[in-house]
Amino acid sequence: MKLSLPKGTKDILPNEMLKWNYVENAFSKACKNAGYGEIRIPVFEFTELFNRGVGDTTDIVQKEMYTFEDKGGRSLTLRPEGTAGVVRSYIDKGMSSMPQPVKLFYMITAYRYENVQKGRYREFNQLGAEIFGVSKPYADVEVISLLGNFFESIGIKKLSLEINSIGCKTCRPDYNEKLKEYYKDKIDGMCNDCKRRYETNPLRLIDCKNEKCIEASKNVPYITDNLCDECAVHFAGVKNGLDSMDVEYKVNKSIVRGLDYYTKTVFEFVSENVGTQGTICGGGRYDGLVESLGGKDVPGIGFSMGTERLLMEMDSRRIDFGQPERPVMYFVTVGDKAYAYARNISCALRRAGVYTEMDLLGRSVKAQMKDANRKNTVYTVVMGDDEISQNKAVITIMDSGEKKEVSLDSIYKRIVERKV
Ligand code: HAM
Repeated sequence: MKLSLPKGTKDILPNEMLKWNYVENAFSKACKNAGYGEIRIPVFEFTELFNRGVGDTTDIVQKEMYTFEDKGGRSLTLRPEGTAGVVRSYIDKGMSSMPQPVKLFYMITAYRYENVQKGRYREFNQLGAEIFGVSKPYADVEVISLLGNFFESIGIKKLSLEINSIGCKTCRPDYNEKLKEYYKDKIDGMCNDCKRRYETNPLRLIDCKNEKCIEASKNVPYITDNLCDECAVHFAGVKNGLDSMDVEYKVNKSIVRGLDYYTKTVFEFVSENVGTQGTICGGGRYDGLVESLGGKDVPGIGFSMGTERLLMEMDSRRIDFGQPERPVMYFVTVGDKAYAYARNISCALRRAGVYTEMDLLGRSVKAQMKDANRKNTVYTVVMGDDEISQNKAVITIMDSGEKKEVSLDSIYKRIVERKV
């Protein structure tokens, strides 16, 4: 029986890895340039972390988690995102006692049982970063400008940035009451998800994509217009910071985000090129999360972006990911003696950091030459018994077709020093 992939998963083959490496290297560079250290967190954690961290009223926790019991009867869940795990690690590893702020970045896979479509998968990748210990808007502006630098470094000159503030534990309860009042006589005509959220998380009614719900939300009061003084001052600080850095953005009052931990600033980078799943990157502040997971009262903010969506955006902009690395030397050999000789030089060159190729299938000279061409090698050398006994061989510079006779003894030195 042929085995196939589970729905929503994929293989990433070597020719595509060029793109992935390009993006991940650029992301790692942009983060390190801004003083972030890389963190790796487990693929699975105790289910309770996500119930409490992501929030048990969210779609992720209610419908999308891959949860299983291990052989010891513990409930574990494949991470549906990175923030909860990073916060757990911040608490677990005592990072609040380290010099603050603590700035971390990660490149992870994440798992959500979703309806699969373009840009939406069940196993996907996220590039993300988090800052702990800064309550001022400086951190909000820094993460957004980090993203701006990163996008520019991979050739994405402009991506729409939408921001909002969704308040804090001071202003949200009053606003939730206002929302419930507004939806009171509309909720019966809304979808089942909204009916459920009406009691548990009325803020999410605003961004429901169901047509009836969009219609019901037409005149909804926005939290952006109902912020407490502290949140309003914070939001003004974020906007001022972005203005002073000439970062273009739009305030989108209907961004509420799908995870429960957010407070104050939320933001998204969106594109029209990724189909209906246009949000490439989402993030925001989560000032109560560390404390609610058992840590100190430490503020946090961060973002993550879907690598697959980012690559789709780059493809649609026809961004050049560069070419695969060319082999410097292809050793074409005839006979066992020449093969053994070439294998030794090839191995030494690889040790010295030079990419070399050799045939492993015992193919004819013609087939080896064809392979060398296909691999786009810089130089080729043909070696047989004659070359070995006379200690000389002909190197072909493949781009020009030029040929040079060299002594076999000198090949290693010439290639390492690129003096062919
Ligand atoms: P999120 O909005 O759930 O936020 O996901 C962030 C990004 O991950 C999305 O904008 C999207 O690009 C990508 N993504 C999400 N689900 C899928 C999927 N099923 N298939 C493909 N890509 C997907 C978070 O995960 C938060 N942890 C972000 C954050 C970090 N907030 C603060 N710090």
